[in-house]
Amino acid sequence: MAALLCFVVLLLSPLLSHAADPDPLLDFCVADLNSSPSFANFPCKPTSNVTSEDFFFNGFMTEGNTSNVFGSRVTPGNVLTFPALNMLGISMNRVDLAPNGINPPHSHPRATESGVVLKGKVLVGFVTTGNVYYSKELVPGQMFVIPRGLVHFQKNVGRSKALLVTSFNSQNPGAVILTNTLFGTKPSIPDHVLTQNFQVDASVVHGIESKFRS
Ligand SMILES: *[C@@H]1O[C@H](CO)[C@@H](O)[C@H](O)[C@H]1NC(C)=O
Ligand SMILES: *[C@@H]1O[C@H](CO)[C@@H](O)[C@H](O)[C@H]1NC(C)=O
Repeated sequence: MAALLCFVVLLLSPLLSHAADPDPLLDFCVADLNSSPSFANFPCKPTSNVTSEDFFFNGFMTEGNTSNVFGSRVTPGNVLTFPALNMLGISMNRVDLAPNGINPPHSHPRATESGVVLKGKVLVGFVTTGNVYYSKELVPGQMFVIPRGLVHFQKNVGRSKALLVTSFNSQNPGAVILTNTLFGTKPSIPDHVLTQNFQVDASVVHGIESKFRS
């Protein structure tokens, strides 16, 4: 009986794999960003056109501009900015936070996130589907993980600038930023939906919307 169970588990193990993106079918497939109507499945650049430069990304060398209301800047190193990631199922972001800056509550529908703080003091928090809040203040060298799809944020709670690098098990993790998702859509979600949801007057909804409608 135990042997049979082991056999069944072995048989199912590929299905139990936690990979977020499908496994690659080639050594590489540097995305040809110009020739695709959709970023979900880029065709490959011809191998004869691929050079060393394709496999290196300079986008994280410069500090992100944090002169905005949140005091933060996420610089993505995903398939859209670094086409060699196409088909490989991974990506990274550089996150700069000014003192008191926040990378506001958001989730990544297609990836688990891990990250490491390189500079400053950063409060990292996430919330489970059962509404339990987990958090910790991190200093340089400390790493964190945000399980796939869960709402989380990073906030600079130190006196100086903070820098972190995050990584994802998707070439294009996507970001659902809660405020924009509810208050910054085009067209907007009807007032009666938001007033009923938040149990507030339309004026409160309009006040919030005015800050997130661009
Ligand atoms: C490949 O390189 C050739 C020659 O430089 C160029 O004409 C062509 O547009 C390139 N194709 C792609 C898909 O990059
Ligand atoms: C940073 O962004 C602000 C606001 O968009 C802009 O005014 C400023 O010129 C930018 N600074 C740099 C160095 O690009």
